[in-house]
Amino acid sequence: MGTSLSQVAKYALENPSSIREIMSVVADFRKHPEKYPRRLIYLGGGWPQDPPPEPLRKAFLQIAENKEEFRLAARYPPTRGDPDFLEALVIYEREIFGREVEEAELLSGIGSTDLAVALFFSILDPGDEVILTNPCYLNYTRQIEIVSRLGVSIKRWPTIKDGEFSPDLDELQGLITDKTKLILLVTPGNPDGQVFDEKIFEGVVETALDKNVFVAIDIAYRAFHYETGIPSYLSRPRRENEIWIATLSKELRVPGWRMGYLIAEPELIRAIETIQQAMTLCPAHPQQLAFVKMLSQEDIIRELRSFLLEETPKKYHKIASLVCDELDKVPHIRYLRPAGGFYVFFDVKEILEDSKTFVSQLLNDWQVALAPGVDFGMEGWVRLSFAPVVEDQELLVEGMERIRKFISSRLS
Ligand SMILES: Cc1ncc(COP(=O)(O)O)c(C=O)c1O
Repeated sequence: MGTSLSQVAKYALENPSSIREIMSVVADFRKHPEKYPRRLIYLGGGWPQDPPPEPLRKAFLQIAENKEEFRLAARYPPTRGDPDFLEALVIYEREIFGREVEEAELLSGIGSTDLAVALFFSILDPGDEVILTNPCYLNYTRQIEIVSRLGVSIKRWPTIKDGEFSPDLDELQGLITDKTKLILLVTPGNPDGQVFDEKIFEGVVETALDKNVFVAIDIAYRAFHYETGIPSYLSRPRRENEIWIATLSKELRVPGWRMGYLIAEPELIRAIETIQQAMTLCPAHPQQLAFVKMLSQEDIIRELRSFLLEETPKKYHKIASLVCDELDKVPHIRYLRPAGGFYVFFDVKEILEDSKTFVSQLLNDWQVALAPGVDFGMEGWVRLSFAPVVEDQELLVEGMERIRKFISSRLS
């Protein structure tokens, strides 16, 4: 079998997504809990477990209850998404996040994962170079390798040095060559929960403009800025080399609905659209229409604003602080205090250099699932996601206690 696979399939087999792999343990635990000595505490993936906003559920129900609407929702939408959905996104961006976008700059897809792949297909050729931060959301490395059939070179811009988030623009400039096509940022960051300040962010965009390079900004965690509020670069008009990668997965707690969108220049959107015609045909329709229905009510926009801009950051900040308080009790580790997002990234080198071994021993011995830092580009670190336990602090505290016990057993 191995001999008939493509080089890229062999690469994918050798580099599976550790988070998706851990998911199979979770699925197994759900089916056969009796096989495990304790309840599995899953702190591995970025899956919010708190419910989507109630008006979204109601809108979905209304569509399901109305035969005509249900029939329309069952049809293929256009490749870029239902036109009413694109219009609703313009309202959503403006009314919630204060950003003016035009419909021509928008394209929706089956989650931002799908759209990132289509974007890479649209702008990368063999021999091109891409700059990712280090650490960076693990799927981007795999996607670029797969899309380019291992033909694009990935350079890493280290943003964490000596345990601190300290991105250096000169260092980024030193990585750019005439082959550089794209710089990709995630803010707030996955796996580190760090947020680019205004000066560095605008510096990256300026540098890229100057060198004729695209900048893609993944804003999956935009509604999860804790204390600083949402930086103004997330609401100013799009600059010409910027591609914004947005998703409703986290903001609206609908990761299984697969709803993402891109904001980019219309010519690029058109190119991506034609690629999507071949790759996915179109996004899923019912959830787009539920979103449209929800946003068509003025009072619900107000409700959503409070859900996204007040309740969400407050709730997630509280849990992030709890994780940090618990980590303060653990000897021999150091962590990055998150400014946003779902994750706390911590350095376990003094306990075990090999992050995959750390994660698998913790899972085997104490049934707590984390994600290994090496997959994000940083060996000796591990990522804890508190999104799955945001509604269950007791479970989180128990998980932290098990991590502490595991570490003391390793040290003794
Ligand atoms: C930074 C980042 N971007 C994108 C995604 C995937 O988003 P989607 O559900 O829209 O495919 C994730 C998922 O964890 C993520 O962490």
